[in-house]
Amino acid sequence: PRVKSWDLPFLYQYQGFWFPSKFFHGVINFQKHFQAKDSDIILATFPKSGATWLKPLTFTIMNRASSTLESSPLLSTFSHNLIPFLEMMIYTRYQTFSVLNDLPTPRILATHVPYTSLPPSIINSNCRIVYLCRNPLDVFISHWHFAPSVRDIPMETPLSLDEAFEIFCQGVQSFGPVWDHELGYWNASLEKSHKILFLKFEDMKENTAFHVKKLADFLGCPFTQDEETKGVIEEISKFYSFENMKKLQVHQTGIQTPTGLQNKNFFRKGKVGDWTNYLTPSMSERFQKLMEEKLGESGLMTTFSQ
Ligand code: A3P
Repeated sequence: PRVKSWDLPFLYQYQGFWFPSKFFHGVINFQKHFQAKDSDIILATFPKSGATWLKPLTFTIMNRASSTLESSPLLSTFSHNLIPFLEMMIYTRYQTFSVLNDLPTPRILATHVPYTSLPPSIINSNCRIVYLCRNPLDVFISHWHFAPSVRDIPMETPLSLDEAFEIFCQGVQSFGPVWDHELGYWNASLEKSHKILFLKFEDMKENTAFHVKKLADFLGCPFTQDEETKGVIEEISKFYSFENMKKLQVHQTGIQTPTGLQNKNFFRKGKVGDWTNYLTPSMSERFQKLMEEKLGESGLMTTFSQ
């Protein structure tokens, strides 16, 4: 079925999730044609969970031998252009498939596709996945603000926060339901900890350096004793902080290709718990109950407490 949603004009239901109609053929092409290499790194996120943070951190960790923070291509190229979303930026256009062959090895690629809908070669090869998870309520509020900028066709009447929340609670959202998306990667990461690193936005905000180190270890690029002593981990963590990133010229003025979105739309507040400024106690109580029902004993619930 095709439904109208609060975030994008139309969504299709497929394999248990809602996919934006605009990128649906990209999802299908990605599933059908993508051939993972064992050396690939796939950055997987639900929309508005902080891919804009994870991408430069991963790129910098993996390329730090050849480029310093001051000479980084990230100062002139938005990370979403350097590390494309496969289903939205590569596979929506046939002529860009070949770009994948030209990327340097190891390739760093990104996706919003849920774990159970990933191409078989990602699951079956030795490529590695980093998943960044975020409190679904912060995801909702972030998406609520972001949505108007991604609509090509303005909605006749934009939905109120209450109406959007109602639809969100039914799981109807691009790549949603968010809880099933997060749970899919969570369960897979418990089974395959060598293949999937499951990170939480909230934990990363609390102690970025700890998670930058963990990410580097997982990526097979651990920091040397010398780097640790020199404070390289702290330097990287600070450099990619929300406040610093938002200020960069490329993020103030640039445009993301091929979507045409303004880079600055990807930097709003970068905070944990902003949802408390928008949702009433009865809305949050309702959502808490829903999460108990959906996530049950999975162990993922603790992520969502404030
Ligand atoms: P908010 O709207 O809550 O501020 P995505 O990158 O997946 O599209 O997610 C965007 C969210 O990540 C936005 O959340 C954005 O502000 C936040 N974000 C972007 N860069 C960040 C950074 N360096 N540190 C923390 N959060 C960041």
